[in-house]
Amino acid sequence: MLSSMGYGTRSEIGWLAKAGRIVFDAEAISDVTMRIPVTPDLVARMNINGEALDPLPGIVILLNKPVGATCSHKESGALVYDCLPQRWKRRVPGISAVGRLDKQTSGLLLLTDDGDLLHRVTSPRQRVRKTYRARLARPLNGDEAAVFASGSLTLKGDDKPLAPVLLEVVTDQEALLTITEGRYHQVRRMFAACGNHVLELYRERLGDLRLPEDLAPGDWRLLDAKDQMLIFQ
Ligand code: URA
Repeated sequence: MLSSMGYGTRSEIGWLAKAGRIVFDAEAISDVTMRIPVTPDLVARMNINGEALDPLPGIVILLNKPVGATCSHKESGALVYDCLPQRWKRRVPGISAVGRLDKQTSGLLLLTDDGDLLHRVTSPRQRVRKTYRARLARPLNGDEAAVFASGSLTLKGDDKPLAPVLLEVVTDQEALLTITEGRYHQVRRMFAACGNHVLELYRERLGDLRLPEDLAPGDWRLLDAKDQMLIFQ
């Protein structure tokens, strides 16, 4: 289990134990064949290299995605996974972004190793609300709210119209947009369809889940079951 949580190969973990670096119920484990049940309280009972054990599988992370990081495991350059502890890249099951934000988009991004949760959040059938704050190159022309709410706007290259979208005007060059789909570059393409251009895009909410104000770009925290329920509200 420790190996699949990224702490090292099985033999490296054997060495850690022999060096007294794995502590269970305040005692160093020296017998590596000892059977320890994997229960949720293990995180509180086990200590590795002087630190609490990482979260067990079923991890859900709320990240304030910085501009410039890519939601990909493979691309070169900064990745959203670089914001997390290095050893988490070796976890099995692996941690993946829940949906994608463009490289230039910032804000609320979930990451998880829970395939069911990932599917429920991204499935178009669930219609999870995603709210973005967009700063625009030009003033709104006044008819965007009606066009977006109509359910009849078909974006270039798409074969069916967008589901209705709520637009809330903040200033004449800033708006909040709540979408329930997650089409490719959807928000940027919607404003482009109205002759505008998105200068900055920030995801503020997923359902009723918001980023805490004190979570700086690149910072993250674990999401408990109660907060996860906010996504579906
Ligand atoms: N819409 C976009 O255009 N980009 C994003 O990253 C998310 C939604």
